[in-house]
Amino acid sequence: MKRLLIENIGTLATPEGNSARGGELQGKVKTLHNAYIYIEDGIIKAVGEGEANIDKLSAGAAGGKADALGGKSAPSKGKLVGDNEDDISILDAEGMLVTPGLVDAHTHLVFGEWRQNELEKKLKGLSYLTILAEGGGILSTVKATRGAASEELVEKAEGILDEMFDLGVTTLEAKSGYGLDRENELKQLEAIKTLKKKTPIELVSTFMGAHAVPKEYKEKGGIGREEYIDFLIDELIPEVAKKKLAEFCDVFCEKDVFSREDSMRILDAAKKHGLTPKIHTDEIVDIGGTMVAEETGAISAEHLIKCSNEGIKRLKRAGAIACLLPCTSFYLGVEYARARDMINEGVPVAMATDFNPGSCPVSNIQLVMNVGCLNYRMMPEEVLTAVTLNGAAALGRADRIGSIEVGKQADIVIWEAPDLAYLCYRMGSNPVSKVVKKGIVYE
Ligand code: NIG
Ligand code: FE
Repeated sequence: MKRLLIENIGTLATPEGNSARGGELQGKVKTLHNAYIYIEDGIIKAVGEGEANIDKLSAGAAGGKADALGGKSAPSKGKLVGDNEDDISILDAEGMLVTPGLVDAHTHLVFGEWRQNELEKKLKGLSYLTILAEGGGILSTVKATRGAASEELVEKAEGILDEMFDLGVTTLEAKSGYGLDRENELKQLEAIKTLKKKTPIELVSTFMGAHAVPKEYKEKGGIGREEYIDFLIDELIPEVAKKKLAEFCDVFCEKDVFSREDSMRILDAAKKHGLTPKIHTDEIVDIGGTMVAEETGAISAEHLIKCSNEGIKRLKRAGAIACLLPCTSFYLGVEYARARDMINEGVPVAMATDFNPGSCPVSNIQLVMNVGCLNYRMMPEEVLTAVTLNGAAALGRADRIGSIEVGKQADIVIWEAPDLAYLCYRMGSNPVSKVVKKGIVYE
């Protein structure tokens, strides 16, 4: 049995519970001082304040030997301290801040090429949808992704995951949606599967074949769009589900992309095949995609920049999580989603990067915390819940991760920071000292 004791924690801050937190609870964070966390085989067994009682904590563990303490030694990257199976490794947090590992619940991780060539168009005033209508935007990334070998996709994404892990991300969702045909959607999802073995980050796959209508179908006009949706429903969704290549299905429900009716059909089919619905909606234009979220029972609705009062009420009725992406607003130069109104209505808010080559080339979830805090006017405690427990809930994992509590997986970040506010306040540096993933210490 592998045992780890993290002691001398200056401040431990964590949301609590096994489900998403909205309303006042979003800002309720448990704070302990001079704390410790005791972990066995990657699972948290005890959390408390003051001196940890090793004898008591390890009773019942392998051999129950209080004298199993293997001495203090510094953790090395990727390796649990202590060679002896019965040793307790001790990690001195040196009075630092400790939080749950961060959950990035919305990314478009795997793609062929960056799109810095669009920057000039954007600066000259061309809108996101105009660039897409001209065959650029998502469709240009589709071209690059179709042209890329699987290994190349894996290699590029692996570099990004390394960065994200160093920034404190321990769980991350990755969507397909730059293939838009059988071969290339499967190639993207297979790349995510390969990446699962290459990173300590737990990866969660989402099928997003309905990210745009591919060029070859678009050229056929209205009939082509219907044909593409039929292909997704009759062929690709069943195959993805059968091969267990995704847990979730997402749709870009947006003006000139997929209508409400299209999105309903696609997500209904996904549900029949066991994929849980998610929806990109109200990003650019409010076409009432929250109705689809409500009717399909989507676990989360994402973006929501243009979400109306009625839309917020629908999310509340649906029990859906609002997954907000503040760096997308920042990069697109548009308004920010109404996070305060959502929280006040009791809708749990998660925040994620939306990392992608078009609307948000930001892989840094700490920047999301800064931008979200300042522009949504979310308190540091609400921000923490958004990027931990609520992110975990948006991925159906709140019973296992997202907080530091007995019974949960030991996904933990140790920050060179005095308190939680510091994380939202400082910008552009990385105060992560160590990341603990499933009880393994990385530094
Ligand atoms: O979440 N809106 C749709 N999808 C992405 C952008 C993808 C792209 O521009 O490549 C988003 O913003
Ligand atoms: Fe997105």
